[in-house]
Amino acid sequence: MTDSLLQGFSKPVFSKPRDVSRALQPAVENALPAPLLQARSVTLEYATRHQVVRATHRVDLDVYEGDRFVLLGPSGCGKSTLLKAAAGFIRPVEGEFVLRGRPIRAPGPDRIVVFQEFDQLPPWKTVLQNVVFPLVASGRLPRHQARERALHYLDKVGLASFADVFPHQLSGGMKQRVAIARALAMQPEILLMDEPFAALDALTRRKMQEELLRLWDEVRFTLLFVTHSIEEALVVGNRVALLSPRPGRVRAEINSHEWDLTSSGGTAFQAASQHIHRLLFEEEAKEPEGAVEARIGMGGRG
Ligand SMILES: Nc1ncnc2c1ncn2[C@@H]1O[C@H](COP(=O)(O)OP(=O)(O)O)[C@@H](O)[C@H]1O
Ligand SMILES: [Mg+2]
Repeated sequence: MTDSLLQGFSKPVFSKPRDVSRALQPAVENALPAPLLQARSVTLEYATRHQVVRATHRVDLDVYEGDRFVLLGPSGCGKSTLLKAAAGFIRPVEGEFVLRGRPIRAPGPDRIVVFQEFDQLPPWKTVLQNVVFPLVASGRLPRHQARERALHYLDKVGLASFADVFPHQLSGGMKQRVAIARALAMQPEILLMDEPFAALDALTRRKMQEELLRLWDEVRFTLLFVTHSIEEALVVGNRVALLSPRPGRVRAEINSHEWDLTSSGGTAFQAASQHIHRLLFEEEAKEPEGAVEARIGMGGRG
């Protein structure tokens, strides 16, 4: 097991997304399809009044269609910043994000973000209105079709019977389900999720991971998922990029398609988790220059 795990470690490595449909297979044997989303040497910085904070340093990523690609790293290593740059909210100071070969310069309906916070749904709109609104506002669909599609995706997340209630009447997990339905209803090229289950209790979190995987099996979207939990990364992802502490760099990339919720208690899974933990933290002493603030440990809210 350890051997096969170790073989999975390289930087960067291409792995075919699990169960990818034939249509997505490369036409020529051994030829790689073009990545859907690429980070090309992406450096991201925040300029504060007193200093420039480098959040990531020359990050390269290739996300392929159908991937469940996870960015894993300790709090403060630049995961959210990378996701925001992929969404088009932040521009790199160096390098670029590219979607289907086109540089990302602004937010767009082809990249939808689901955040950690439960307050991402306008509280004055019902569940259904919350899902319909972006479809209509972005001009994707006329209202009656938007309603139909919204109900379809609410049904997929098990909330069709809650269409007419308001967000405050829902639990945290249900709110996240609405946010996921709203995002999927837009049928984006890529779904971006920033620690979407981090604020949920452990049981609900596990259930949401299970549901996300079931949804992926049904809908086959491409996912870029951020977490600071090693277990969540292994369960949710088919590929995981390990980021070093700030400024975030890709330390290694692993194939994680063999793990799911059923394997998460097992010894092989534990060994894999420990191996990743070592990879993430063993080189702490050799931290690159450029980190200005004290590093924040793993385990806090990302
Ligand atoms: N708006 C901001 N202004 C200044 N620094 C920021 C800002 N947002 C994030 N940072 C800093 O950038 C680094 C990366 O942050 P972030 O991407 O949120 O990390 P993560 O999501 O991995 O926890 C952190 O050190 C954080 O303090
Ligand atoms: Mg974060």
